[in-house]
Amino acid sequence: MDIDFANLQLQYQKYKADIDTNIQAVLNKSNYIMGEEVHELERALEGFTGAKHAITCSSGTDALLLAMMAMDIQPGDEIITTPFTFIATAESIALMKAKPVFVDIELDTFNIDANLIEASITDKTKAIMPVSLYGQPAELDTIQAIADKHNLKVIIDGAQSFGSTYNGKTDSNLGDISTTSFFPAKPLGCYGDGGAVFTNNDEYAKTIKMMRVHGQSKRYHHKYIGMGGRLDTIQAAVLLAKLPYYPQELADRQQVAQRYTDILSDSLQAPVIKLNRSSAWAQYTIRVSNRDVLQAKLKDNGIPTTVYYPIPLHLQECFRFLDYKYGSFPVSEEASKKVLSIPMNAFLNEKNVLLIVKSINTALYSR
Ligand SMILES: Cc1ncc(COP(=O)(O)O)c(C=O)c1O
Repeated sequence: MDIDFANLQLQYQKYKADIDTNIQAVLNKSNYIMGEEVHELERALEGFTGAKHAITCSSGTDALLLAMMAMDIQPGDEIITTPFTFIATAESIALMKAKPVFVDIELDTFNIDANLIEASITDKTKAIMPVSLYGQPAELDTIQAIADKHNLKVIIDGAQSFGSTYNGKTDSNLGDISTTSFFPAKPLGCYGDGGAVFTNNDEYAKTIKMMRVHGQSKRYHHKYIGMGGRLDTIQAAVLLAKLPYYPQELADRQQVAQRYTDILSDSLQAPVIKLNRSSAWAQYTIRVSNRDVLQAKLKDNGIPTTVYYPIPLHLQECFRFLDYKYGSFPVSEEASKKVLSIPMNAFLNEKNVLLIVKSINTALYSR
């Protein structure tokens, strides 16, 4: 029997009664755009994250755009970020006509190397955008200290890390603005596209709310050039049904990760989670030198795996204009050749965890 990577079908079966009831309520009311479920979800997200403001929106990508719009990022501004992330991180910066400035990552956490940031700051730098890759926040204290010293803003791309913590606070409650994605396969996913922006800054919150509805201050009065960036009410209804189960899911993902690490860390490089942090375990990502062989063998055993990400952003065709080359960010380049994400979800039972680790160990030792 094939193992499921994210297990979204089983998850739906578990919460079906709540999800169906919530969706049916929206259908009965036909309040599809900015219905009360959207506002109810935002209050629930504030409660969960501790952030003063949670503003839902149409995707994790749009959440990043809304954050930069609120900060009035201008063409030519520079934003420092990591090249080892999903395209949306740097794409959103480029969409603002700002310039992504890449800084290499730490070998153990795959997150931006905070020690390298200061050397890349220029008089055009406006913000630092760390990504909480695979679910673990970056070195946020150091990043915030650098930002404070140079009068920069911090935007945390928490698309993969909803519910993760750094020094006991969720990463949605840190930085000047933090964002997340509710893409279905994300740790907390809806059933389509969705995202949220978090901030403790009242002015930013006010602006983001206007920006997501075409910069509208009141009906048909447009203060800013904004976007159509709202979360559908049906998606809010799905998330409202799923959120109460999420703390248990996080605990279950943590348990799966711990089992993997306990068994695998003798034979390969298991993920490293720093002591002052917790991961939402969007991915459990190992590092192996014979990745293609291992991936093929696991596939033969019905175990799906994914490579997040095979090409670092500085080597992507769309970013050729930034003039980076192979060798610019060696740690990211090395990671892109070795990383392999194995099945991770809250519904992986002990039997399947053992089957996966056994298949990995067999493949590694039968070379
Ligand atoms: C790090 C990161 N940033 C941004 C995004 C964009 O989120 P969305 O797909 O909801 O637009 C993703 C989604 O995969 C992501 O992984």
